[in-house]
Amino acid sequence: MSQLEQARADLPARPHIDYRDGQLMVEGMSATQLAREHGTPLFVYSQAVMLDALAAYQHGFTGRDALICYAMKANSTLAVLRTFVEAGCGLDIVSGGELERALRVGVDPAKVIFSGVGKTRAEMRRALEAGIGCFNVESLPELDVLSAVAHEMGLRAPVSLRVNPDVDAKTHPYISTGLKGNKFGIAHTDALVAYRHAAALPGLKVTGIDCHIGSQITETSPYLDAMDRVLDLVDAIEAAGIRLEHIDFGGGLGINYHGEIPPAADALWQLLLAKLDARGYGQHKLVIEPGRSLVGNAGVCLTEAVFLKPGEQKNFLIVDAAMNDLPRPAMYEAYHAIVPVRPREAEAQTWDVVGPVCESGDWLGRDRALAVQAGDLLAVCSAGAYCMSMSSNYNTRGRAAEVLVQGDQARLVRARESIDDQLRLESL
Ligand code: LLP
Repeated sequence: MSQLEQARADLPARPHIDYRDGQLMVEGMSATQLAREHGTPLFVYSQAVMLDALAAYQHGFTGRDALICYAMKANSTLAVLRTFVEAGCGLDIVSGGELERALRVGVDPAKVIFSGVGKTRAEMRRALEAGIGCFNVESLPELDVLSAVAHEMGLRAPVSLRVNPDVDAKTHPYISTGLKGNKFGIAHTDALVAYRHAAALPGLKVTGIDCHIGSQITETSPYLDAMDRVLDLVDAIEAAGIRLEHIDFGGGLGINYHGEIPPAADALWQLLLAKLDARGYGQHKLVIEPGRSLVGNAGVCLTEAVFLKPGEQKNFLIVDAAMNDLPRPAMYEAYHAIVPVRPREAEAQTWDVVGPVCESGDWLGRDRALAVQAGDLLAVCSAGAYCMSMSSNYNTRGRAAEVLVQGDQARLVRARESIDDQLRLESL
């Protein structure tokens, strides 16, 4: 295989992110040109990949009463949010900060759901003022506090209880959330008591139920199991006279980082909807909270090879992106494909692709076969989700810039963070 063919085979989001005339293109834009214009490291997103991913869900829900709330923690850049909101999505938020981003892009507040285990009173108040659609509540004390806050404001907070169905999502332990040992949700066995408690509180209006079992799920069975467990609870809750208007199945669908073949969103939902229908819940309103599967493969991070450092045991390829830009390898030993922007037809060598940060954990890819020279541009793939939104200023590195591509147009949607931006809040 030539270097170009190899690189092409590694790309997870063709045809929108693909080679043309030996050069990596994001839709109609040349990666080389974007890097030249905006510098590196640079996140480049294809809007078409995002909208295609969304269309798969929308297709799956044709004819159903369903709301897709994009889990903005995956990538909360305003232009990305605007893309999904304009396409009809609601937003799943987890903090007061995310609420402000949501309001900034003009989402209908009724389409906002607020997840998370540690909402503060101030966050609750602000979300109630804004009139969000639902609070996904994760504990009994949260129910009590939310009821008190809403009652003080003369309101009733719409709530759904996040139940923990105790199923194994078969994913990395750090991103698995539906097992008993996790901090998330209300235990399956305690859920009915919690619902009775919620229904009796003056400041709450029980509207739904929700679960989220983990992230980067590549199999269908954990979803089917979780749905069964949740519907068992819905049976019991409705039998207790508490009517649920919606059922929220969370997010979690995985993407192809390294040959994974997760179910397509529409195929997955065909199975899940069949189960819902079979159990008599086909008429309930559905909510889902996908993040990664909508944006993960829409983004690449362009980075320049700074130095080649061959060694006795390892060859290091030092690039200008680092763990502060792309924290997933360091945090989860995650794999991201790394491809040359202009593949060279030369002998490949094996490299550990690393950043300049002062940590051995600062690696982006290990044992990668690449034909590369200093000054070459590389693209770290599958960088649309949980990269920019998890980036930091470690080593006083400014955050990267971001570009959104639509066809043959590219817009700088976040400028590179300057040193003044970084130092603005500090004083001597
Ligand atoms: N809903 C809730 C309540 C969540 O906690 C999450 C993700 C989602 C929805 C969206 O899940 P998704 O569709 O993106 O899988 N930083 C990790 C992933 C953490 C996921 C946290 N919760 C990573 O980079 O793999």
